[in-house]
Amino acid sequence: MTRLDFRGKEFVRNYHMSIPFHSLELQEGLSLGDDGFGGNLILNADNLLALKALLPHFANQVSCIFIDPPYNTGNENWIYNDNLNAPYIDEWLGNTVGIDDGLRHDKWCAMMWPRLWLLYELLSPDGSLWVTIDNNESYRLRAILEEIFGEAGFIAEISWCHTDSSANNARQFSEDYNTIYVFSKNPDWRPNYLAYPERQTHYENPDDDPRGPWFDGRDVSNPARRPNLQFTIPANAFMNTHSSHHLQPCVIEHGPIESPANGWRWSMETMEGKFATGELRISEDGTRVIKREYLREMAGLAPSSSWRPHFENGEKVWRTGHTRGAKSQLKRLFPERATADLFPTPKPVELLNYILQLATRPGDLVLDSFAGSGTTAHAVLEMNAATEDDARRFILVEMMDYCNTETAERVRRVINGTNNFDPIPGTFSYFTLGPALDAENILAGEDLPPYEQLGQYMYNLVTSEILNPETIDAENNYLGGTENTHVWMIYQPNANWLKSPEAALTLDFARQANEAYPGSRHIVIAAANFVGHKRIRDENLQIEFVSMPYALFS
Ligand SMILES: C[S@@+](CC[C@H](N)C(=O)[O-])C[C@H]1O[C@@H](n2cnc3c(N)ncnc32)[C@H](O)[C@@H]1O
Repeated sequence: MTRLDFRGKEFVRNYHMSIPFHSLELQEGLSLGDDGFGGNLILNADNLLALKALLPHFANQVSCIFIDPPYNTGNENWIYNDNLNAPYIDEWLGNTVGIDDGLRHDKWCAMMWPRLWLLYELLSPDGSLWVTIDNNESYRLRAILEEIFGEAGFIAEISWCHTDSSANNARQFSEDYNTIYVFSKNPDWRPNYLAYPERQTHYENPDDDPRGPWFDGRDVSNPARRPNLQFTIPANAFMNTHSSHHLQPCVIEHGPIESPANGWRWSMETMEGKFATGELRISEDGTRVIKREYLREMAGLAPSSSWRPHFENGEKVWRTGHTRGAKSQLKRLFPERATADLFPTPKPVELLNYILQLATRPGDLVLDSFAGSGTTAHAVLEMNAATEDDARRFILVEMMDYCNTETAERVRRVINGTNNFDPIPGTFSYFTLGPALDAENILAGEDLPPYEQLGQYMYNLVTSEILNPETIDAENNYLGGTENTHVWMIYQPNANWLKSPEAALTLDFARQANEAYPGSRHIVIAAANFVGHKRIRDENLQIEFVSMPYALFS
């Protein structure tokens, strides 16, 4: 595979693995409702840390990820502030990315790499990731995505016409399109097929067929060789005309119609029925059988990868919206603000709505980790309001202080309604980042996390699976498991206790675990291990010891 090289790549390659887990702290005063992790979430944090913090709760669970990261145009003020401890990267720390420093693209790639890896880990096996970008970084982004998802993970490169007016002052080309990449862990991933009236204008109903608009469509010959369906249709065999569904005597003037080479699609009897309803008819020259394809029977079409306005009944229709419209949507939600004070680069709700239609089903989880003005949440809420099905849920992440005043405030206004908008039912929980669950914090004896919280992180760390909190039994040091594997954690949030022999894996504990679930594999997370390999082998104990992620006895 062709790989993209960028400065700093060797340092960020596995960086996502070393980022410490953080707890997430609920801000009740900024939330609407109290559904917690079971409902919609808005996180005010750098997405590098936020995505890692989400992993223990949502790894492999997110069906649709939409991100609209900084395009790196040189005019934005995105800050490269990842705390990477490498000399090359140190010199970038805290730097606002400028257009002239020669490292602009490297920094952008180094910023995106670990975040895309974390998004990959959150994406469900049959989910899809959608990323908008323009020509400043598009080919680099695609190369990074192919490295993470593999070439087979590439699903589509969509051209989205984002403007309703070309730039008359452009020197070379008016850049009217953004690119949207679609990737999936599943190379056979398919979008939902939708109805596209503009691509179905060839359906008409000139003869008032009661089954609605139709066109002369599909082949009537069998795709496979079917000797039992090879028969000749005799002259005068059926009752209908060649031009209408109304029943009239059919006269085949040019004699019988021979079978296609493979045979017909249907038996003689079925064809008689179809001739009687007008679905099949004989061509005017009497040599062919023609089938009507009805619009109402169409299950939908695969979407085009070119998203631009189309005409319906002479009207220009912007199914995926445009940037100017997105700004006026915001203006209507925040009428008291001057236009210059509105979030400058929102995407239109229509764009997100269309992506949700293509990529989600009822009950799905949707994540946007570059949330900006919160368009994704707006679209999810609108979609939920329009259907009786299970609600889709959203998770937004925005690092800037305006997460409360722009991102969450927009969602509040959508839910509560404004003078210009009717309220749409919904709730969300607002979180900020808590302390890191790392060695330093834990050894300092401060902020020792409760059993359930550390248990969820450790369980995810050792199994890459999500722990069902209901299976946690702290008294018996049990976290949970599957049919064949059980995970135990010997832990109390007490620094002195953790340094005592009680916090170690002992032979008694190993035996009891084996007796509780005989024949299973047992993973035991503890501060120390007092059981030797020989004993485990001699007693045939299915025990694997995993050390707590900090050096208690150092
Ligand atoms: C192009 S805007 C997204 C606009 C959004 N799609 C909308 O419709 O409003 C990118 C957003 O990502 C945020 N962002 C940039 N880097 C981030 C990071 N590391 N973590 C979280 N948010 C970040 C920026 O603050 C900005 O609000």
